[in-house]
Amino acid sequence: MNGAVPVPAVWRAPFDVERLRADFPILRELVRGRRLVYLDNAATTQKPQAVIDSLARVYGQENANIHRGVHFLSELATAAFEDARRAVQRLLNAPDPREIVFVRGTTEAINLVAHSFGRQQVGAGDEIVLSEMEHHSNIVPWQMLCEERGARLRVIPVSDRGELDLDAFERLLGPRTKLVSVVHVSNALGTVNPVRRIVELAHGAGVPVLVDGAQAVAHMPVDVQAIGCDFYAFSGHKVFGPTGIGVLYGRQALLEAMPPYQGGGDMIRSVTFERTTYNDVPHKFEAGTPNIAGAIGLRAAIDYLRRIDLAAMGAYEHDLLEYATEALTCVKGLRVVGTAAEKSGVISFVLDEVHPHDIGTILDQEGVAIRTGHHCCQPLMHRFGVPATARASFALYNTYAEVDALVGALRKVHEVFA
Ligand code: ALA
Repeated sequence: MNGAVPVPAVWRAPFDVERLRADFPILRELVRGRRLVYLDNAATTQKPQAVIDSLARVYGQENANIHRGVHFLSELATAAFEDARRAVQRLLNAPDPREIVFVRGTTEAINLVAHSFGRQQVGAGDEIVLSEMEHHSNIVPWQMLCEERGARLRVIPVSDRGELDLDAFERLLGPRTKLVSVVHVSNALGTVNPVRRIVELAHGAGVPVLVDGAQAVAHMPVDVQAIGCDFYAFSGHKVFGPTGIGVLYGRQALLEAMPPYQGGGDMIRSVTFERTTYNDVPHKFEAGTPNIAGAIGLRAAIDYLRRIDLAAMGAYEHDLLEYATEALTCVKGLRVVGTAAEKSGVISFVLDEVHPHDIGTILDQEGVAIRTGHHCCQPLMHRFGVPATARASFALYNTYAEVDALVGALRKVHEVFA
């Protein structure tokens, strides 16, 4: 195993990672007596103090239910919740705040579209196009729908490097295709998919597109108008916000034509035992008391991101990924799974003769947190002929020294298995 790869000075220059790290209190914690090296950001990101403070402020000073009360706190909470919606609208460059539906996370956003749009539009013999690199949350809801409707899934194949075969994709589009649903950035490979091109091809065939943006929003500016997609989903906890809050962006005309997903309070205009009429979008899709604090916490995360130069962040993360890829490739017996030309924030790897779970356990003893397993992508693991991988995933606060710590900890794995 080689030592650390030298870091060119220019890689450190434009992005003050140490200053950013100070905003994330958990990064000062010791794990097993060592400074935490947190490389499991694709699973969930850590939270800046501003997000933690916003949650404490909601529950300590501003807590009330929304859209219901005439009292001061209820009006305050309602305004903060709707401000959060506008902050998401700006983040995604969505044309209108009514196109932003608050949900629990990416999984619920996709289920919403499957249950509502899917049940309305998909019938026997129809087809839904996914890719081989989808997370289970972008497979199983469609599979359930297909079982119910007698429809079927068509799957875009992935190359050995972990890139989508767009020629095959074009051939899959046909008169029975009702929806294309693809991931923006693969959680297991890090591949950044050409979603704009995918939308162009699908729209050329008259087919709407849902993009699963769970792994994209924390790493790059996302503009739903530039992408041209019809739906875009992401989770708050993967963009430095709280768990239990997420977003479905949907084109207004589509959302208006779709039936509600769940019934309950807030999604209705009037209810009698004979008939219920529904509220306007997005409220039609937000039955029951939502995660008010979560939405406000997500807004704090978005405000935090807005203070960061995203171009500099992207360049820094890109260089960090290149550095890490080079350093890991030098580790004896290590093979990177997923070597697409366009990648973001994720390195999946396997080590000769060592099960990924053993890698994860030994790294944990060194204070290095990674994820091991199938990453909720069993069909993709099958495609690459592995049961599981070890995965290091990065965020804006990770450093070259942490990559060196990862490589050093992998040296321990070799010592254990020598
Ligand atoms: N989807 C998350 C991950 O990739 C949980 O780890």
